Amino acid sequence: MDPNASGLAMRLAEAGQSHLLQFWKKLGPKEQADLNHDLQGMDFKEINGFFQKAMETSSSSKQEKMDARMEPVPREVLGSVTRDRESLKDWELTGLHCISQSKVAVLLLAGGQGTRLGVSYPKGMYDVRLPSHKTLFQIQAERILKLQQLAEQKHKIKCCIPWYIMTSGRTMESTKEYFSKSNYFGLEKNNIIFFQQGMLPAMDYSGKIILENTGKLSMAPDGNGGLYRALGNQSIMDDMERRGVGFVHVYCVDNILVKVADPSFIGFCVKKGADCGAKVVEKNNPTEAVGVVCKVDGRYQVVEYSEITLATAEKRSADGRLMFNAGNVANHFFSFSFLKDVVQKYEPQLQHHVAQKKIPYVNGEGQLIKPDKPNGIKMEKFVFDIFQFAKTFVVYEVLREDEFSPLKNADSQDAKDTPTTARHALMSLHHRWVLNAGGHFIDENGRHVPAIPSLKDGTDLPIKCEISPLVSYGGEGLEDLVKGREFHPNVMIDEMGVHELVKNGV
Ligand code: UD1
Repeated sequence: MDPNASGLAMRLAEAGQSHLLQFWKKLGPKEQADLNHDLQGMDFKEINGFFQKAMETSSSSKQEKMDARMEPVPREVLGSVTRDRESLKDWELTGLHCISQSKVAVLLLAGGQGTRLGVSYPKGMYDVRLPSHKTLFQIQAERILKLQQLAEQKHKIKCCIPWYIMTSGRTMESTKEYFSKSNYFGLEKNNIIFFQQGMLPAMDYSGKIILENTGKLSMAPDGNGGLYRALGNQSIMDDMERRGVGFVHVYCVDNILVKVADPSFIGFCVKKGADCGAKVVEKNNPTEAVGVVCKVDGRYQVVEYSEITLATAEKRSADGRLMFNAGNVANHFFSFSFLKDVVQKYEPQLQHHVAQKKIPYVNGEGQLIKPDKPNGIKMEKFVFDIFQFAKTFVVYEVLREDEFSPLKNADSQDAKDTPTTARHALMSLHHRWVLNAGGHFIDENGRHVPAIPSLKDGTDLPIKCEISPLVSYGGEGLEDLVKGREFHPNVMIDEMGVHELVKNGV
């Protein structure tokens, strides 16, 4: 294990990373073994190459030039739930048919660290305090289960939607344990496939890998675009092929309203013959933290909120709307063959993006320093960076209040995208489902409560209504339960029926 004898010291010297062994002699045998193990598994030449390329492309002059090359998404590739109402049913039927043939898989990106939310466990295990206390994972699992049932009922055939879940070194064990403890929420264990994305070291601005303590490198997941490498090196594409998967819906863990394997979105993409598609909502505030789907040099791309300049984000069209308003909700459609090409051919062409961070490090004396300004970078690939390789790319626009409420930050005054906003978004959607199905809400005096779909952050909802995904996937099938009925403003509908909840019990 002597780094000189094993050749490790030499490899590090060649890569300019010898400082990683500076405390070697002071480490105990276990620490030495761990550090040796971590270093032996790394390709320093490759990592240095990533660093150089990422720094080159992220320089601010390059970014400004990119702004000048951006164009909005053209109308002809755009489908919309509001403008194309007459086609919606057809798209939904097409999607449901694909699902019934077990051709649709869902793929969850859950390798993030949830730093902004500030929890030490995987974000999918977060309980936003719905009346049922279901977590994000459970809500998604039940939507998959329900959709399988809907497709089976419609086409009288047994089907399955395999669920691929990408975790990282930090989230894998707890995620698996949680699913196992929860009996896979009624889904078949064999149809939930966990796999792990890679990690990369944090580097300082001169390209030196940062030590987080004397015997340990500072490591972070390699971004949600680490997906493509992981799909290849963990034989996930083979698994999809064996199952006959034709289409994959990729989504992020944090959107409480996510329509997992949304048949209308899948059907739209399939009908358009697309190999790649993105769901968007209208971005209405220039500084909203969403990427925008657009074209750069004639190729489709998402320009991330951290990479667009304010001047471009603020540009408006003649109708007063933001010019770059196709807000990425991180719901993507890929055909299996496109994904396979990406994994086999294009992945190495994807470049890392740079995130400047305050990264705790040990100084030359071995003391831990917590910097108060950014001192280095983390490198991440992004899931949407493969759009540029698509032959037929489409964009599907949906309504924010129906489909997008991400959980990013902890509750606090003025914070956006919090547990409270997520809970409110889900309950006001379900409130509207009840109204659409012919139910009414009444106050303590027996008067109908006016329909107020949503309120400002921080205020409480007048109506608390939660409908289990096991009862309804997207608002369907509620008439028998609610039509012509009056409810008090605290109601939960699940497989057992309709329950009025104790006031303020939420
Ligand atoms: C993401 C999108 C952004 C979009 C926004 C909508 C990316 C790169 N950016 O931004 O365009 O407008 O969501 O909410 O997709 N993840 C991994 N591995 C990682 C890092 C993240 O699996 O190494 C997963 C997370 O678990 C999460 C998702 O990717 O499910 C998004 O990560 P997050 O950091 O929350 O992305 P945003 O910056 O909010």
